[in-house]
Amino acid sequence: MTKIIVVGVGYVGLVTGTCFAEMGHNVTCIDIDKSKIEKLKKGTIPFYEPGLKELVERNQKEKRLVFSTDYEEVKGSEACFIAVGTPEGEEGRADLSQVEAAAISIAQKLEGYAIIVNKSTVPVGTVKRLKLLIEDHLINKVPFDVVSCPEFLKEGSAIDDCMKPDRIIIGSDSEKATRILQHLYSSFTVNHDRVLVMDIESAELTKYASNAMLATRISFMNELSWMCEKVGANINTVRKGMSGDHRIGYHFLYAGAGYGGSCFPKDIRSLAALARDLNCKTPLLSAIEEINEKQKNRLSEKISDYFASKGNVRGKTVAIWGLSFKPNTDDMRDAPALTLIHSLIKKGANLRLYDPIAMGNAKKILEDQEKIRFCISEYQAAHNADAIVLVTEWKQFRFVNLKTILSKMRGNAFFDGRNQYHPKEMATKGFRYFGMGVPETQTALLNELRSIGTKKASRYDSSRLDHDSAHTR
Ligand SMILES: NC(=O)c1ccc[n+]([C@@H]2O[C@H](COP(=O)([O-])OP(=O)(O)OC[C@H]3O[C@@H](n4cnc5c(N)ncnc54)[C@H](O)[C@@H]3O)[C@@H](O)[C@H]2O)c1
Repeated sequence: MTKIIVVGVGYVGLVTGTCFAEMGHNVTCIDIDKSKIEKLKKGTIPFYEPGLKELVERNQKEKRLVFSTDYEEVKGSEACFIAVGTPEGEEGRADLSQVEAAAISIAQKLEGYAIIVNKSTVPVGTVKRLKLLIEDHLINKVPFDVVSCPEFLKEGSAIDDCMKPDRIIIGSDSEKATRILQHLYSSFTVNHDRVLVMDIESAELTKYASNAMLATRISFMNELSWMCEKVGANINTVRKGMSGDHRIGYHFLYAGAGYGGSCFPKDIRSLAALARDLNCKTPLLSAIEEINEKQKNRLSEKISDYFASKGNVRGKTVAIWGLSFKPNTDDMRDAPALTLIHSLIKKGANLRLYDPIAMGNAKKILEDQEKIRFCISEYQAAHNADAIVLVTEWKQFRFVNLKTILSKMRGNAFFDGRNQYHPKEMATKGFRYFGMGVPETQTALLNELRSIGTKKASRYDSSRLDHDSAHTR
């Protein structure tokens, strides 16, 4: 049993601390946010993460997990994990002020040898600079080591990711620190040795490289989806065709409404800023971000195109299903839904929003918007809507009663930002369905009719076009 400190009780820190406690260690989680710590002491989890509440409760009850705002707790600890935020700072660079403040606070309390483990995502070179910063702020001149141990957990499956990690990266220049950290993580890696030890710089870069690779796959598919729409190909079919090649694989190859969240956007920009500072040209990194920005606006453009022949978006009611940046989290940081919401409000639409978990966070961000009505279910959101837009693919949206949904709507347009539904089935059920990178026969035909200026267009609208879509997708 080791006395562990985890600094920062956000998505990473709270999960990490709780999982170490679950493995039998004595863990104190420190945060400067008093209200979060008070809530945690009473068993309230400050964010949504499946399975976390039960684990926190159990370990608190068994006194292996405690919460504090006081860095005095650092005294006598053997390992201090830093898991504070590294939000985007000036010109895309990571803002390291939280990490530096945490490192200084730890330094001032060290009484004997300890390892300081950085889990926050930081640019290459930060951990070595933290070592100097800690050295400068030691009150007791004790030995210590600083190591990099980047975090790869995913919100929504964070407990599983932490308990059964794909890999644990240890970036270290001290054999002693490496041994201690390997020992600490041994309980998570009993079945299979997943610990990779490397130099500190490589560890720091591995985290950014992994996120950049995943974002590249998303942007690649999104870019390809634009072409699919032009040539009448279906991105879902293309994806299946590509994925059979084991060098490509099946994962993370989905076209959609763009990536968002607390990591990809800021990490890609931070990596690009680092490259700029090093005078390295990185056209691929710039393209990932550029494509994503364009993709986040695609849904709004599709909606405008659709309503162009119906007196445009102004005054139309649009229901939005799913607000968090991905399912199974309440995290709204950089969520693609926000781009869509702001764009539709600018265009004069009235919005009816629903998310199974993120409503609280969404209200905090959007409460001053007059055009928004917050709803208690996807069914209520559909009420009198001219169109529905699915932005976040929560499982409960997959098997909604589409007949009931359609009966509540004023219009019948359905924009599927995550390609969750079968176009043919949606058309059969009476929806005008628009996916991302699936052939838009209806839109194409409408545009054609509009361009030749025939007034017959409106008569073609539902009957012929829906028939068309049902047989061509
Ligand atoms: N969220 C994820 O899915 C994820 C995954 C992998 C890596 N990361 C990285 O991990 C880091 C933490 O991310 P997060 O999402 O958990 O952040 P978060 O914003 O949810 O939480 C950060 C916490 O740190 C606290 N804090 C700030 N300064 C402090 C200080 N000086 N002392 C004590 N506490 C302090 C804040 O009050 C907050 O509770 C970031 O660098 C992030 O990029 C996040």
